[in-house]
Amino acid sequence: MTSSSPMVLTVLLFASLTGLLVLAPRSSPLPPAKEEEVAGPVVVGDGKGGGGGRGGGVGGEDDDLALFRRATLDAGESPAAPKVAFLFLTNSDLTFAPLWERFFEGHGDRINVYVHADPAARLRLPPTRSFRGRFVAAKPTKRADATLIAAARRLLAAALVDDAANAYFALLSQHCVPVHSFRRLYAALFPPKEAHHHRLPSYIEVLAGEPQMASRYVARGEDAMLPEVPFDRFRVGSQFFTLARRHAVLVVGERRLWRKFRQPCLSPNSCYPEEHYFPTLLDMADPAGVARYTLTHVNWTGSVHGHPHTYTAAEVSAELVADLRRSKNNTYDYMFARKFSPDCLGPLMDIADTVLFND
Ligand SMILES: *[C@@H]1O[C@H](CO)[C@@H](O)[C@H](O)[C@H]1NC(C)=O
Ligand SMILES: *[C@@H]1O[C@H](CO)[C@@H](O)[C@H](O)[C@H]1NC(C)=O
Repeated sequence: MTSSSPMVLTVLLFASLTGLLVLAPRSSPLPPAKEEEVAGPVVVGDGKGGGGGRGGGVGGEDDDLALFRRATLDAGESPAAPKVAFLFLTNSDLTFAPLWERFFEGHGDRINVYVHADPAARLRLPPTRSFRGRFVAAKPTKRADATLIAAARRLLAAALVDDAANAYFALLSQHCVPVHSFRRLYAALFPPKEAHHHRLPSYIEVLAGEPQMASRYVARGEDAMLPEVPFDRFRVGSQFFTLARRHAVLVVGERRLWRKFRQPCLSPNSCYPEEHYFPTLLDMADPAGVARYTLTHVNWTGSVHGHPHTYTAAEVSAELVADLRRSKNNTYDYMFARKFSPDCLGPLMDIADTVLFND
C-alpha cells in the first residue's frame, strides 16, 4: 500500500482531527454546558458590525478554532426530523431573499439559514424573516482566495453547533436561486425509504484531469502542496456544494490539507483555492461517499474573467428553468442555479408558483 492510498489518507485525516482534539487546552476540561456559556452563541445577529473578526483574513484563527472544536465535539446527530442548512456566502445584498422566503414557506421546521457577510460589505436591504438574526461572525473574504474556504468552514461549523438536526449543508451565494420546490429538494436529499441517514452522499463536484489543473497545482510554488497533496490526488470542482453532516464535521476538524491550501498564491489568477480544497479533501477521505456532482447549475459558456454567464431579467422564462434543472447526461436534477443578476428578482417571483416551485 503506498502512502497515497485512500485508506492511509483517511487514517491520516482522522489522525489530524484527533490531534486537534488532543491539543485542545488540557487545563480546562470543561463540561459541555459550561463550554456553551464560555463560547457564546454561534449566530450573532444581523451582521451590522457584529463580526467576530479579530485578526482578519485567514491569519488569526484562534476564534475559528474554538468554534471548530465545538463543532467537532457536539457533532452527534439528532433524532428529530432532519433539516437542511442553507449557508449563504455573500459580499453584497441578499437580493433574492424574497424568492428564498417563498421557497421556504411552510417548511420552517425543516430549514435553517446562516449568512456569512463580508464585514466590509454594506448590506442595504434589511434581512427578511428567515434571514433575520441568522448572520454568523464573519471575517473578510476575497474572490479566488483561501478566505472563501475559511468562510465556508466557519458557516459549516456554526450550523453544526447551532442545530443537531441539520443533516445537509448547502453552500450558496447571493446570486444563487432555487429551481425546484423545497418539497422536491427534501425528497431528493432524504429518500423516503432510507431509514438511516448516516450514509447519505454529499453533492460536490469532483473532477480530475482538467486542463487548468497543472498551473493551479503549482500556484503556491513548485512543491508547496507536498507531501500531503500529490498532484495525482489534486481535484477541482465548483465552489458550491451540498454536504452531508458527517462530511461537514470532517471538513471543520481538518487541519493538514487546510494548512496547504491556505498558503498564499504566488499567482492569484491561476489559484482558486476554494475550487480545490473541498473536492480534494473529500475525494481523499471518502471517495465512495460523494456523488461527484453539484446540485447547483452554473453556465460557463462565454465566461468572462473567470465569471460564469450571469442571467439577466430578459432571459428568465419557463424554458430557461427547464434547461437549468436538467443535468447534461439527464441522470440527476439541479436544485439551485447561478448566477442571476438582481434585476431577475421580479421575473423569477412572477413564475415562482407556476414554474419554479410547481413540483
Ligand atoms: C452523469 O454525470 C455524473 C456527473 O458527472 C456522473 O457521476 C454520472 O456517472 C453520469 N452518468 C452517466 C450515465 O453517464
Ligand atoms: C449559457 O450562456 C450562454 C451565453 O454565454 C447562452 O447563450 C446559453 O443560452 C446559456 N445556456 C443556458 C442553458 O442557459
